[in-house]
Amino acid sequence: MTKYKVLITGEILPSALAAIEEQCEVRQWQKSAPPRVEELAKWLEDAEGLFVTGNIAVNETLLAAAPKVRVIAQSSVGYDNIDIKACTSRKIPFANTPGVLVEATADLAFGLLLSAARRIHEGWDWVRTGKWQEGQLPLGVDLYNKTVGIVGMGAIGSAVARRAQASGMKVIYNNRHPRPDQEQLKTEYRTLSELLTTADFIVVLTPLTPESRGMFGAKEFAQMKPAAYFINAARGGVVDTQALYKALSDKQIAYAALDVTDPEPLPADHPLLKLPNILVVPHIGSATTETRNRMAMLAAENLLLGLAGKPLVTCVNSEVNYR
Ligand code: DGY
Repeated sequence: MTKYKVLITGEILPSALAAIEEQCEVRQWQKSAPPRVEELAKWLEDAEGLFVTGNIAVNETLLAAAPKVRVIAQSSVGYDNIDIKACTSRKIPFANTPGVLVEATADLAFGLLLSAARRIHEGWDWVRTGKWQEGQLPLGVDLYNKTVGIVGMGAIGSAVARRAQASGMKVIYNNRHPRPDQEQLKTEYRTLSELLTTADFIVVLTPLTPESRGMFGAKEFAQMKPAAYFINAARGGVVDTQALYKALSDKQIAYAALDVTDPEPLPADHPLLKLPNILVVPHIGSATTETRNRMAMLAAENLLLGLAGKPLVTCVNSEVNYR
C-alpha cells in the first residue's frame, strides 16, 4: 500500500504518531524553535496532509508552498494561527479538537482563580523560603457570594460556571449574543461594560479573532472594580499587555492570573513578572495526560480521515469538508 505523505510541524504524542505512521510516511520538525516556511519547503512540496503542532502560522505563504495538501489537523481548540479563509479557498478542510479539552481547561481556569484568590502559590513560596514563622502572608479573598463574569461563554465557560456555582458564586457572562439556555446554566447575560463594572472575578475565555484582539485595554481595566481579579485562559492577544501592567502596578485592579500572554512565551525579565499581584503559568490549560492524549488522537483521526477523502469529525470550515 502506498503511504500518504504527512508533515508534522512539531512535537506529537507517541500514541498519535504511531497511529499516523501506520498509514503515512511521516516527516517531523524536531527542533524546539518553530520552523520557518523556507526550512520546511522541501517537505511541504510533497505533503498531502499537515499535522500542526507548535507555534506555526498556516497562512497563504505556507499553503502556496504546499500544493498537494488536502487536509490540515491541529491538536488544539484555538486556531488563531490558521488562516481559515486561505484553507477554504483551496478547498482544504481544517480540523481543531473541541470538546475533548473542556473539563481540563475549565479546571485550570478555575484553578487560577482559586489560587490567586487564596494566595495558594504565594503560600507555597512563603513556606519554601522558610518564612513560615515570619510576618503575615497577605490575606486572600472569599469566593463565596462573589460574582464571576465570564467573557466567552462557550463549552469551557459553561464548565467554569459549574465550578464557580459549586463554590457559591453568582455567574454572569458576556458573549456576542445571549445564550438561549442561560436559565438552565443559572447565569445571566450582561453587556461587556456591565460585566466589567459588576464582577469580582473576570474570566476571559473568548477566542482570539480580529475583533477580540486587544479587547482588554486601558478603558476596560478602568471600568473594573479596584478589588477585581482578572483571569485570562483564552489567548494572550485578547489583552493589551502594557495596559494590564499599568492597571496592576497602579492598583487599578487587584490581581491577574494568566495561562496565556502576549508575547508568548513571556521573556523571564518581562516587567509583568516582577509585579507582586500576578500569577502566570505557561499555557497549560489542556496539559493533562488524558486530555492531551485525547486531543492528539482526535487530531490524528481527522488527518487520516481527510487523507482518505472522508469527512473530518471536527471540521472548522465545514463547507469544504469531505462528504
Ligand atoms: C487550546 O487548545 O487552544 C488551548 O489553548 C489549550 O490550552
